[in-house]
Amino acid sequence: MARQVVFCFLLITSISSISAVQTHTVETSIGTINGMVDDVYDGSSGTTVKLRKYFGIPFAEPPVGKRRFKKPDPKTPLTEPLNAFNHSKACSQVTVYKLGDVPTDEDCLYLNIYAPETIQDEKLAVMVWIYGGSLMHGFSDMYVADNLAVYGNVIVVTFNYRMSVWGFLSTGDENAPGNYGLWDQHMAIKWVHDNIAKFGGDTNRVTVFGESAGSTSVIFQSLYPGNKALFQRAIAQSGSIGAFWSINENITQNARHLGTLAECETSDNKALVDCLRDVPNHKLEEFVSDFSYGLLTFPSPFTPVTDRLFINYDQKHALDLGNELPVATKEMFSSIDLMTGVNSREGSLFVIPLFGVIDPENFLPNRTFFEEYLISIFLETVYGGLEPQSARAFIIAEYTNWKDPDNKHNTREEFVSLWGDSVFGGGLYRTLNKHETLASNRNKTYMYFFDVEPDFTGGYVPMTWFKKLGHGEDIPFLFGFLNSDVIKDELKVTPSVWEQEMSRDIIRLWSNFAKTGNPNSPSDLGLNWTPYTKTNKSYLQMSRNMTSANVKRRWNQRRMTFWTSLVPELIDRLCLTSVSSSCHSASFVIIINLIFYLHFHSI
Ligand SMILES: *[C@@H]1O[C@H](CO)[C@@H](O)[C@H](O)[C@H]1NC(C)=O
Ligand SMILES: *[C@@H]1O[C@H](CO)[C@@H](O)[C@H](O)[C@H]1NC(C)=O
Ligand SMILES: *[C@@H]1O[C@H](CO)[C@@H](O)[C@H](O)[C@H]1NC(C)=O
Ligand SMILES: *[C@@H]1O[C@H](CO)[C@@H](O)[C@H](O)[C@H]1NC(C)=O
Ligand SMILES: *[C@@H]1O[C@H](CO)[C@@H](O)[C@H](O)[C@H]1NC(C)=O
Ligand SMILES: *[C@@H]1O[C@H](CO)[C@@H](O)[C@H](O)[C@H]1NC(C)=O
Repeated sequence: MARQVVFCFLLITSISSISAVQTHTVETSIGTINGMVDDVYDGSSGTTVKLRKYFGIPFAEPPVGKRRFKKPDPKTPLTEPLNAFNHSKACSQVTVYKLGDVPTDEDCLYLNIYAPETIQDEKLAVMVWIYGGSLMHGFSDMYVADNLAVYGNVIVVTFNYRMSVWGFLSTGDENAPGNYGLWDQHMAIKWVHDNIAKFGGDTNRVTVFGESAGSTSVIFQSLYPGNKALFQRAIAQSGSIGAFWSINENITQNARHLGTLAECETSDNKALVDCLRDVPNHKLEEFVSDFSYGLLTFPSPFTPVTDRLFINYDQKHALDLGNELPVATKEMFSSIDLMTGVNSREGSLFVIPLFGVIDPENFLPNRTFFEEYLISIFLETVYGGLEPQSARAFIIAEYTNWKDPDNKHNTREEFVSLWGDSVFGGGLYRTLNKHETLASNRNKTYMYFFDVEPDFTGGYVPMTWFKKLGHGEDIPFLFGFLNSDVIKDELKVTPSVWEQEMSRDIIRLWSNFAKTGNPNSPSDLGLNWTPYTKTNKSYLQMSRNMTSANVKRRWNQRRMTFWTSLVPELIDRLCLTSVSSSCHSASFVIIINLIFYLHFHSI
């Protein structure tokens, strides 16, 4: 995949910058930290900016041995000056990306800081990045933040957190409560709060941002009351909580299954976890692979759980409008400014892995295959093995282009939309509506829709038939990869002028938001992007040649109503787990309503 090419290269580029001659020393409460100083060309101002970089700063004690499957412990102060010149290892993971020469280890809780040098010691806004990868894989060093820090004039922090079994094993009790990966993220955020001022950061302007599972993580952190006042804003790109892929209801069974594989079989949870703590890490890696979760197979065997410690609510329904959250959770969520959005074709993520599509390039489903096979898998995956026939007919009706229903290209497009709308669009609307309601119209909620068709071929989606912006393809724009001369030359790609401009615009919007909570200020693009409310559903359509006309209303309203009101109601009323007669009569009424709905909303 082209994606791997991009990231492996980036890593090499960043490592080669170790030869930087200049260094910079910071005295922090945890000890002395020496960083490197690089000259980075800022295309927007035509000047060269000095960027201080500190790589591999430990923010927690290594979570190994007795610390495995536990919340992280804070890092004890450094006993000698740290030369923060080298990247740390990535966290142990189910390796799906070719990590190149990047080594992995359980000892992986380190962070990186990219801090532009300022004139007159101005305090800079801080952006803390949480990477994605299904909570199964990924690492901070893929996201080289030179361009974002320099063009945006912000401090960028990236860090590693535990994933998969290391981050989320749970026995459902105090022996292994789970959510260690989320605690790692919280500890990194706390570290930034406690220390970033020494690096020139403004602790009153900290934004947590992330993509995909990183975006899911951003929402989890935004709901955790222990983060109150540790950050003020959040940007959630293509992901929220409650999606099927971040909840596995078999997680405690999976802990037992792991126990069997590791010869730790016992009905005593304490003994089980103690035994699993003694398993050598390379064996643990092997066993986790034995769960046979390959590339993007959902859900991960180990996911966040409602442990009543970090997650004190029902994940699936937390953001539903009718659902009452605990008071402290509500207070936290309403205390932050939130920007969130999706790309135009998020469904790209589901084309390859879930359907045994061996040859995604030639994926072109006919109607029979769509109606009989693809929809079944969709329902099984999203609604847990249950397959209500009426829901099936209803979804097929909605996701058919009735002007030319037998056209395979149309079927393929509708299939991609089905996944994008249901998983990402539905989650987006729930998040926006909940946040706007709790923040009670304080102009703190912003929505974007990123809608371009990239020319740049080093994107994340390998299929040439794929048009528009797929899952993850916002990242090269946000991190300014397209504007790095080194990267362009080495990759032999020539991003279009509009892509480079788009990249700068996005960095301006994102860094504006980090600085002020308002994406229009201080660096005004003349868009007058207005906040989202439940009634006006205002959003910015980010496309080529953006003007104030790109501020639109009610994105994808018909299908968002379909996924946020109609389908959940249908599924509920059909009483999936029971076959009582009252279920059937209720479902009949709903179906009649739905037929009316489809009829009157036909485009
Ligand atoms: C940093 O990495 C380089 C290249 O791998 C290595 O030669 C050097 O010893 C490392 N420095 C430290 C301080 O670990
Ligand atoms: C949960 O476990 C059951 C029975 O072991 C299995 O059939 C099902 O596929 C599992 N579900 C997930 C999401 O892993
Ligand atoms: C539809 O596609 C399936 C799977 O590719 C294939 O087996 C089947 O023969 C096709 N049916 C028609 C009518 O083309
Ligand atoms: C929100 O924005 C509207 C219109 O732009 C403005 O009238 C209102 O005062 C703002 N509310 C707050 C709390 O800032
Ligand atoms: C939506 O409502 C907000 C808050 O009242 C307001 O600031 C904004 O201008 C409205 N947007 C549109 C497009 O009407
Ligand atoms: C954007 O603007 C340029 C110059 O005004 C124009 O040539 C181009 O066609 C426009 N692109 C789109 C997608 O509207």
